[in-house]
Amino acid sequence: MIELRLPKGSPGSRILGIGSSQPERVVTNDELSKIMDTNDEWIRERVGIAERRFAAPEDTVVSMAVDAGAKAIAASGLNPSDVDTVLVANCTTTVPIPNAAAQVAELIGAKAAGGFDLNAACAGFCYALAAGSDMVRCGSAEKVLVIGAEKLTDVVDPVDRSTAIIFADGAGAAVVGPSDDTGIGPVAWGTAGDLVETITMPNGKHIYQEGQSVFRWATTKIAPIAMRALELAGVQPSDVDVLIPHQANLRIVEAIAKRLRKAGAREDMVVADDIVTSGNTSSASIPIAMDHMRAAGRVHSGDVALLIGFGAGLSYAGQVVICP
Ligand code: UT7
Repeated sequence: MIELRLPKGSPGSRILGIGSSQPERVVTNDELSKIMDTNDEWIRERVGIAERRFAAPEDTVVSMAVDAGAKAIAASGLNPSDVDTVLVANCTTTVPIPNAAAQVAELIGAKAAGGFDLNAACAGFCYALAAGSDMVRCGSAEKVLVIGAEKLTDVVDPVDRSTAIIFADGAGAAVVGPSDDTGIGPVAWGTAGDLVETITMPNGKHIYQEGQSVFRWATTKIAPIAMRALELAGVQPSDVDVLIPHQANLRIVEAIAKRLRKAGAREDMVVADDIVTSGNTSSASIPIAMDHMRAAGRVHSGDVALLIGFGAGLSYAGQVVICP
């Protein structure tokens, strides 16, 4: 039988640079309380959000992805033409054709790059990061631009207080390239299909979520998945410098951090709290948080970061990465 040739690939992969993009418009809790029955105190106490960013009509998943992606490429010291594959995790493009990735590749200057969209809802960035990392290691790609980009305001009822106070818009990106060492650990991923009905779009237009059911699931089931990602990477909880869970609710973030600290994570482990000023940006929340923490000097090059995404599906994915 004929033997097919395989590409050489790379012993490891790593994140070379990150970037993020948010719309200019800041929306406070007080502003929302003028158009629906809510208030600043409830939102801060129950969700942890003080303000979020809403996109302008001209901002799109693609435009925010391009902005975040260009910054990640610049941070990695590469040229756009070095990127050979573009992955855009998203669940909020209202028109599926053409896909976002092909448009991003063209607009960013990664001409003729391979590209596809990937939908794992709020877990999308970690899924795409795993796919990009494996592509680099297997040799099907060399420089992958991995993006999480969402315009949630397009799919949220603007006066539904159970969702409109939570969700927001933005994009975050990472460039993944080859490495002699392992800079991106194995992914721990899966789905909880029995809870598929807890986050849906029943009218095909607006997000609906059974908040309490998802909250219970996230606060009990996600920390063990994060622990599995550590185990797969051969990393102890005490080795984790930075914990970056999907920014769904500050109380969920704190519950995951508490469980990890019980399992040996350090008290001085930095825990992402970007939801306070960015809201829940679904697949964009983890890379946006990482980029903001880097800019604020809370995350440093070489830090061991534990990422864990979770959301509709219900889907989840997490991995250990070395910060660029
Ligand atoms: O990103 C994808 C994954 N998603 C998640 O992880 C979301 C997980 N769930 C959550 O984060 C929380 O369940 C929510 C933030 C969605 C809701 O918080 P909660 O603490 O579970 O509130 P609740 O729905 O149980 O509502 C508690 C009370 C109710 O009033 P009563 O029945 O106790 O009188 C609600 O009517 O708060 C009321 N309420 C509000 N009040 C003011 C609900 N929403 C609001 C609001 N403002 N926006």
